[in-house]
Amino acid sequence: MTASTPYESYFHVFRDIIRSMHSSNNLQEVLDVAVTKSAAVLDAKGALLRIFNEETERFDVRAACGLGENYLSKGPVSTEKVLSDPSELHRVKIISDIWHAPRVEYPQEAWDEGIRMMVDVPLAIKDQMLGLIRIYLGQRRSFSGHELDFMLTLAEQCACVIERVQLMENQKENFNYLATRMDKMSSLGRMAAGIAHEINNPLAGILLYSSNMRKKVPSEGRLAEGLDIIIKETQRCKVIIQGLLDFSRDTEPKRVPANLNHIVESALGIVENEYHLQHVDIGLRLAKDMVNTLLDGNQIEQVVLNLLLNALHAVAEYGKVTVTTIVDHDAGAIRVEVVDNGCGISQEHQKRIFEPFFSTRPNGTGLGLAISYGIVQNHQGDIRVSSDPGKGTRFVIVLPIRTDAAAGKGLL
Ligand SMILES: Nc1ncnc2c1ncn2[C@@H]1O[C@H](COP(=O)(O)OP(=O)(O)OP(=O)(O)O)[C@@H](O)[C@H]1O
Ligand SMILES: [Mg+2]
Repeated sequence: MTASTPYESYFHVFRDIIRSMHSSNNLQEVLDVAVTKSAAVLDAKGALLRIFNEETERFDVRAACGLGENYLSKGPVSTEKVLSDPSELHRVKIISDIWHAPRVEYPQEAWDEGIRMMVDVPLAIKDQMLGLIRIYLGQRRSFSGHELDFMLTLAEQCACVIERVQLMENQKENFNYLATRMDKMSSLGRMAAGIAHEINNPLAGILLYSSNMRKKVPSEGRLAEGLDIIIKETQRCKVIIQGLLDFSRDTEPKRVPANLNHIVESALGIVENEYHLQHVDIGLRLAKDMVNTLLDGNQIEQVVLNLLLNALHAVAEYGKVTVTTIVDHDAGAIRVEVVDNGCGISQEHQKRIFEPFFSTRPNGTGLGLAISYGIVQNHQGDIRVSSDPGKGTRFVIVLPIRTDAAAGKGLL
């Protein structure tokens, strides 16, 4: 470094930025410090920090200092403008002629602000560009290699913090989403239980009287047709109500030692005919080393059955569904996976499929997965979904291997 290198100011800037990065989980605070300090250390008019927005694929302004409203109001810039050449990902770019630089989108506005030169410092991690700090200078000047090195080091630190804080913010968002969903599910469950109880008895009455009347009217004619419709629709209501009661009852599983392979085979036996009628192929791969575990066989069969029916509804004729059981000794768990090559589930719908009454099927009640979710939770297990719209869906049920007596008494 030359004698004129302002070590002390570099050191102070570096110290302030590192301090704010380590003491704050608030991304905005860190970004504000990064722009003000970068501008100060290069004795610049101002600085602006943009972060890549994955949804819009543009770079949004996230922090700025020393620039007027007119310039700032110009908003996000496109990716190509900021990063035309990937080899520049880890290089500082000096823009001496703002009128003829392709990456300067608003030269007139910049000129009006008194800007004569710009320096772009990429915020990059490996081969990914998270953002960019642009520093604006009121007059042209040259930069020493040390100054540029310093700016790059600073940017590297900023990029690491941005990545860390973004990860934390995502996790917080996920947590909040799950907490609200659980709250919503439990209030819906309570409401569903109340409504189901109230409706169940009148429905039984309607079904009884309409069935009796049906026996007394001539078997042909409009009256018989009307009664048939009443009976059919009331039966449909009863199925929905029963589903609601199952969902809200939250029954404690009656755990006995059971073999997941047998449960899967039994569920397959129930739907086999339906699959056959629709020419849907079933592939079955059962784990040879399957172990017995304590679980409520009926409840888990209901879950597998629901996944098999959902898969059947999702695939077109001649589709394919594969059911696999796996023993994961390391994780102390067994899994059943149901994979189909059907219509898939969009990202937006994936967030809602476990909500009661969410259904995209004309005759679906939307309770199948909500009930399955409750059952698996009561077994201290997990239900996971991954889907590629247009290609297919994979549901995985994970259940802990339990052999202890406490689990058998429902004390887990
Ligand atoms: N394998 C799958 N492929 C595509 N979409 C699926 C699949 N499994 C579930 N879904 C989506 O999730 C929704 C909710 O499923 P869920 O089993 O809870 O209700 P349903 O099948 O619509 O009705 P039912 O209560 O009769 O089961 C479905 O309507 C469908 O949109
Ligand atoms: Mg279903």
